[in-house]
Amino acid sequence: MRILLTHIKELVQIRESSVQKVSGRSMRELPSLENAFLLLDNDRIAGFGTMNEGTLPPADKIIQVAGKTILPTWCDSHTHIVYAGHREQEFVDRIKGLTYQEIAAKGGGILNSAKKLRETSEDILYEAAKKRVEEVMQLGTGALEIKSGYGLTLEAELKMLRVIQRLKQYFPIPIKATFLGAHAIPAEFKEQPTAYVDQLVNEWIPVIAQEQLADFIDVFCEKGYFNLTDTERILEAGTNYGLSPKIHVNQFNAFGGVALGIKHQALSVDHLEELTADDVEVLQGSNTMPVALPGCSFFLGIPYTPARTLIDAGIPLALASDYNPGSAPSGNMNFVVSAACVKMRMTPEEAINAATLNGAYAMNLSSEVGSISVGKKANFILTKEIPSHAYLPYSFGHSQIEEVWIDGKPLA
Ligand code: NIG
Ligand code: FE
Repeated sequence: MRILLTHIKELVQIRESSVQKVSGRSMRELPSLENAFLLLDNDRIAGFGTMNEGTLPPADKIIQVAGKTILPTWCDSHTHIVYAGHREQEFVDRIKGLTYQEIAAKGGGILNSAKKLRETSEDILYEAAKKRVEEVMQLGTGALEIKSGYGLTLEAELKMLRVIQRLKQYFPIPIKATFLGAHAIPAEFKEQPTAYVDQLVNEWIPVIAQEQLADFIDVFCEKGYFNLTDTERILEAGTNYGLSPKIHVNQFNAFGGVALGIKHQALSVDHLEELTADDVEVLQGSNTMPVALPGCSFFLGIPYTPARTLIDAGIPLALASDYNPGSAPSGNMNFVVSAACVKMRMTPEEAINAATLNGAYAMNLSSEVGSISVGKKANFILTKEIPSHAYLPYSFGHSQIEEVWIDGKPLA
């Protein structure tokens, strides 16, 4: 069935489908058409143009959307949406003065979530995660990456990955799975962290690859978590089994993890709240996408990723939610885009590029989603009547979304 949407006030982020990402100064450009039409052919985008071009293409159904804007759905390339329980007590402890690291040292943090996850059945985890995915889709997310990493035993990591696999099968949006067994050193291995890495590399990664449960491999490269040697071993093992690397890096300390990621052709390096001149230099000219997580900075009260430094150095940047129970309990990409504009001094055009096309790149999905391009999935946001696309981040905390369309159909 061919559907034609007409009189679109602004059709945002129109691209040739060959454009995989945008970097540096180009991020300021957000190609758009005013008074536009968009043609859908079943689940795909089949064409677009301006209303005053003359004859419109034939369609089975015509929908007038005068005054409304259309942009691609958000591509959230970094989430931990499968989890058990919640950690609002740690939130309260932080308000009272404890830091994220102090809470983790007391057995809170990731280990707290791991304990709860191990006690929770696969079905209960699945139902909870399914609700969260439904919720973020209503908020405009049309492609998603989800990490394991709250299991920290083979059995519990496999349970998480199976939940992600079921989510992939259930939802029409593209979902990518990341194996993050190296999220924290489990308490059982506190005195012998290398033995935990040995197990990950020699036993777990082969099993996970064999069962085709992951697309990517990730490591929390940070003081008190996994050092450069551990990170390198895990990235190498993952790569040998066909998993593309991504890393959590420079969240609290910068000590060479970015260069290591680039050496191993990481698809993305995520967090980067701390950034050195050397990090910037290695990112220049690499194919690795830096990913900023402003929801995490906001929630933990830590620095924001220096977006201006990266973009002004000609580097691309993606934005993601980091949705997780500890450092960012929100998957609202509309808030992420607002926070990037307000706190990281990204222009609305840069932030929208970062949350759509560059987010797609960070999941290896640029050919499918991230822009309004002929042949890509018809996944887009139809806004309420708004004066311009800058109104989206400007009206922070308010939803300007009227409908979210996935595969050429509005969500119920
Ligand atoms: O991306 N930094 C490591 N991992 C998550 C937080 C996990 C947690 O606190 O549960 C993050 O912020
Ligand atoms: Fe994370």
